[in-house]
Amino acid sequence: MPSYVVVGASRGLGYEWLRFLSQDPSNAVIGLARTPGPVEAQLAADKITNVRIFKADMLDHRSLTIAASEVSEVTNNSLDHLIVNGAYLGPDASFITPTEFVGQEDLLRREFIKNLDVNVIGVIHSINAFIPLIRKGTTKKITVISTGLADLELAQKANIAFSVLYSSTKAATNMVVAKYSAELRGEGIILLALSPGVVDTATGPPPPEHIPRMQEMGAEFANIYPHFKGPITPAQSVPLMKKVIDNMTIEDSGAFLSHLGSKEWL
Ligand SMILES: NC(=O)c1ccc[n+]([C@@H]2O[C@H](COP(=O)([O-])OP(=O)(O)OC[C@H]3O[C@@H](n4cnc5c(N)ncnc54)[C@H](OP(=O)(O)O)[C@@H]3O)[C@@H](O)[C@H]2O)c1
Repeated sequence: MPSYVVVGASRGLGYEWLRFLSQDPSNAVIGLARTPGPVEAQLAADKITNVRIFKADMLDHRSLTIAASEVSEVTNNSLDHLIVNGAYLGPDASFITPTEFVGQEDLLRREFIKNLDVNVIGVIHSINAFIPLIRKGTTKKITVISTGLADLELAQKANIAFSVLYSSTKAATNMVVAKYSAELRGEGIILLALSPGVVDTATGPPPPEHIPRMQEMGAEFANIYPHFKGPITPAQSVPLMKKVIDNMTIEDSGAFLSHLGSKEWL
């Protein structure tokens, strides 16, 4: 019975991972969420009965360690797949370019630390909490959900000067994944930083002041990828990502790939 833990599974792509994986009754599927109640209610509303939810916050390594011991009871002390999905996507500084932080230094520091805390340190806490279980698993795969915005070559090509903090912390995450790979490859543990594509996970309309820069980003994507017609759905992205994870071998460990299994980000 392949076992999966999805960290940051309350909504968006994280919830879709739970929904998708639960369709195979041979999977043991566990989601971690900061607030289990609403995700448990959503699972019940969707009539999904074979997913367990435990409480954990990526900012709190103790909560992840406690969750790992709860998972261990369900999975017989092992884990095949860890998917670290949760991320800080705070909107406050998302659409600010580097020079626009002049005069907003406090915002720069506050938001950079929030991005770093979840997107980099929270990823390390998540992996370290579950590595004892992964070591005893069969598949031994750890996937961290990254973003094409963290790709240096895309950043050089695309005229998208905002999303400085999110993109650069996700780029740091890619390096963290490569470092784990260097440490754990000898144990047969496979690491991957995986971009989901551009996916519509919005729960409501964007604030009007963000719309011009969102349109700018869409136009820039379309300029680089003429086939780009807009975001895909979580239900389209997750099966593509699953295929990439399934195809990963120890030789590929530490890679940063898209949902298409390549460096094509859209
Ligand atoms: N959507 C896209 O187009 C896109 C593109 C590229 C990359 N990604 C990546 O894909 C992943 C999912 O994105 P999404 O669009 O589904 O985002 P989302 O809808 O905003 O969901 C973010 C998830 O992260 C969780 N989270 C945030 N802080 C957390 C913490 N401290 N501890 C535990 N969980 C935490 C949230 O939980 P709460 O409900 O508790 O806040 C939520 O489940 C992220 O890694 C994101 O960077 C998304």
